[in-house]
Amino acid sequence: MKGNELRQAYLQFFESKGHLKLDTFSLIPENDPSLLLIGAGMAPLKPFFTGKLVPPCHRITTSQTCMRTGDLENVGRTARHHTFFEMLGNFSFGDYFKKEAIHWAWEFLTEVIKLDKNRLYVTVYPDDQEAYDTWHKECGVEESHISRLEDNFWEIGEGPCGPDSEIFFDQGPEHGCDDPNCAPGCDCDRYLEIWNLVFTQFNKMPDGSYEPLQHKNIDTGAGLERLASVLQGCRTNFETDLIYPIIEATAKRAGVTYNDNPNTDVSLKVIADHARAVTALISDGVLPSNEGRGYVLRRILRRAVRHGRLLGIEGIFLTPLVDVVVDILGPGIKSIAEKKDFVKRVVQNEEERFNQTLEQGLELLNSLIDTLAAEKATVVPGSEVFKLYDTYGFPWELTEEIASERGFTIDHEGFEAAMKEQRERAREARVKEDAKVATP
Ligand code: SER
Repeated sequence: MKGNELRQAYLQFFESKGHLKLDTFSLIPENDPSLLLIGAGMAPLKPFFTGKLVPPCHRITTSQTCMRTGDLENVGRTARHHTFFEMLGNFSFGDYFKKEAIHWAWEFLTEVIKLDKNRLYVTVYPDDQEAYDTWHKECGVEESHISRLEDNFWEIGEGPCGPDSEIFFDQGPEHGCDDPNCAPGCDCDRYLEIWNLVFTQFNKMPDGSYEPLQHKNIDTGAGLERLASVLQGCRTNFETDLIYPIIEATAKRAGVTYNDNPNTDVSLKVIADHARAVTALISDGVLPSNEGRGYVLRRILRRAVRHGRLLGIEGIFLTPLVDVVVDILGPGIKSIAEKKDFVKRVVQNEEERFNQTLEQGLELLNSLIDTLAAEKATVVPGSEVFKLYDTYGFPWELTEEIASERGFTIDHEGFEAAMKEQRERAREARVKEDAKVATP
């Protein structure tokens, strides 16, 4: 089953269970200062959970575009980390609750997409006997496939949250680690979490306390790319039809082969992930800048460009990848289908700007690290990190990543101090300018 068919099958299944299907919401949160970007399917629906707004239907289903950048450095290095991904979700606002959510998840997985029951495992919150019994007595999940986990509680900053129950697919021992206690919840790739059912009953307040919500809700999230990778029998999400064409196009451009060299593979995966993220962010109206969402975009875009250099690509390469991304995602995501030309212009502009300074910046950083290494130092001074940022457009996180590849750390405090000084200088210059204007 292709990724686009899987998305459709999911949404149709939940429509058949009385849900209203909505298009994905923008990655830019609306009226929610607690979030920089939408990072979960439930995030745009928060006011429906809390009762602040009345939903158009008490059952909603979406495939929501999401961005998570908390572990950016893992992206490209593992089978399942992404910055951009789609989360399939079914939501109940004071309507159905635990039993229906569990039954429908099981029905979709075992009857619609026909996953092998023997390879499915579930976890529940330790004292959630109702969830345990529903899985075991009603769905027939063997007790050896159910475990109780203390950290089965889902929250994202402030807002609706609650205990959860997670579904894992056993990818086989060859994907596992050496830990004899390896089980669902382990960090390795053997048990892949494919679906999270949250029994949303609390509202996390700004002071960190939990208040019971007026009504009980359901928030489920299933990673589209992960489910596709299971269904398509792929080793990683990157080999699914939702991502692989981007890897192929990049490999062709670079004249390299995927699955030939681990370092090359990391760069190909970073570029594939980031090309999707950049396309989705710009389609939703984010523009590169040095602050907030714009900085997230700039950082990701420039990280991708640097990985292009590592592959030996000269010149513009990210911009034409937007076509590939839109071919894949456009059929399922209207906002992405509609903005292609605009996105390409923005990417090209940013790519050109960074290309002008990238080479010099890299030379500077590499020779600096050579000098520091000869002096047996292990830290890149903050003033140098600042120079790379200010003169060469290197987001500090990029400098940090390149430095760490050579065993160095960066001086964060020194960098912050240099940034502060620059802001002060800019402020003083503005005051002087204003004074000139004000003085006749
Ligand atoms: N909010 C939960 C998650 O993001 C389920 O949708 O995992």
